[in-house]
Amino acid sequence: LKALILVGGFGTRLRPLTLTYPKPLVPFANKAIILHLVENLAGVKHIVLAVNYRPEVMISVLKKYEEQYGITITFSVENEPLGTAGPLALARDILGKDDAPFFVLNSDVTCSYPFSELRDFHMAHGGEGTLMASPSRVTKVDEPSKYGVVLTVPGQSTIDRFVEKPKEYVGNRINAGIYIFNPSVLNRIEVKPTSIESEVFPAMARDRQLHSMDLEGFWMDIGQPKDYLTGTCLYLSYLTAQKSAELADPAKHDAVTAGNVIIHPTAKVDPTASIGPNVVVGPNCTVGKGARLSRCVLLEGARIKDHAFVQSSIIGWSSTVGKWSRVEQCSVLGDDVNVKDEVFLAGASVLPHKSISSSIFEPSIVM
Ligand code: GDD
Ligand code: MG
Repeated sequence: LKALILVGGFGTRLRPLTLTYPKPLVPFANKAIILHLVENLAGVKHIVLAVNYRPEVMISVLKKYEEQYGITITFSVENEPLGTAGPLALARDILGKDDAPFFVLNSDVTCSYPFSELRDFHMAHGGEGTLMASPSRVTKVDEPSKYGVVLTVPGQSTIDRFVEKPKEYVGNRINAGIYIFNPSVLNRIEVKPTSIESEVFPAMARDRQLHSMDLEGFWMDIGQPKDYLTGTCLYLSYLTAQKSAELADPAKHDAVTAGNVIIHPTAKVDPTASIGPNVVVGPNCTVGKGARLSRCVLLEGARIKDHAFVQSSIIGWSSTVGKWSRVEQCSVLGDDVNVKDEVFLAGASVLPHKSISSSIFEPSIVM
């Protein structure tokens, strides 16, 4: 089996983190987003990474995983962004070299990745393609315009209409960005910038060749800070349900006062700190005396000083939060940010290498 992972795009919505690393390499629960996909693609021996942006970084970080996972990774580099469909045509030689179906994945989603179920479902209906749909995440009150929406023929898996980012509510089953196709789909796509959602799916739906399979369990696009935090909570709850050994054991960590917490073994946490629920502490982080962390992510090397408070926020690589400071309301600190002592940040998005010595009370970007 083969898979193509779409790892292009500039990841602008995940700034300031994507100013340091391309989106697929940003850590999620202490592992690059894309490695979650690679690890779950059991049985897939050949992965094509469709890249258009900073390919050197991507290649240098990911090449080493070929050996670790016993797979072949081919980097398919676009000269200009080819969108979400063009990269399939560019990799035609690999994807179309035999009759076997192949997976195509957006790189910025988290879920339980039921790939073998998707393949079995696809093989059973005999159509050209199947996409996974996540039911009910988008309700009438949510923004319908963030996702692709799937409308099936009543009582069937056949998709009747696919509407990318509808302006008005059309339905609540959204495209999860996880597909499997027969190689014949390549006859529909040329090597030029093309959107699979706006151009290829509507045509496949008209031909009654596109099916949808409902995704059970959690799902989230983690390509923006607010959703990245929500996705982290969902993923941590999933680990808890699995009784995963990755979670911090409150019996061993005095600081862990609630569930859904990961603490990297190299992190140094003061026992008088209070951590949880829904916290990821990355490698080489330090958390000082009496610090309080909930619903937040600390990336590698972050330092939370004594009595600081961090909630619903992401603390970037090697950043510092000073003593008695409060960082909350979806604040995101980029790489190497220094928040001085006794500063309050609410919804601040701070670019790398900045030093912050006065409070910010409204959502804003610090450049
Ligand atoms: N190689 C390559 N080239 N990849 C690209 C390009 C490109 O030009 N443009 C985007 N991508 C990749 C992104 O890295 C991401 O993995 C994927 O294609 C989807 O792009 P996003 O920019 O994240 O799209 P979205 O989140 O607005 O919407 C898509 O995902 C939703 C689910 O997460 C659509 O597929 C929606 O229909 C879907 O509901
Ligand atoms: Mg996305």
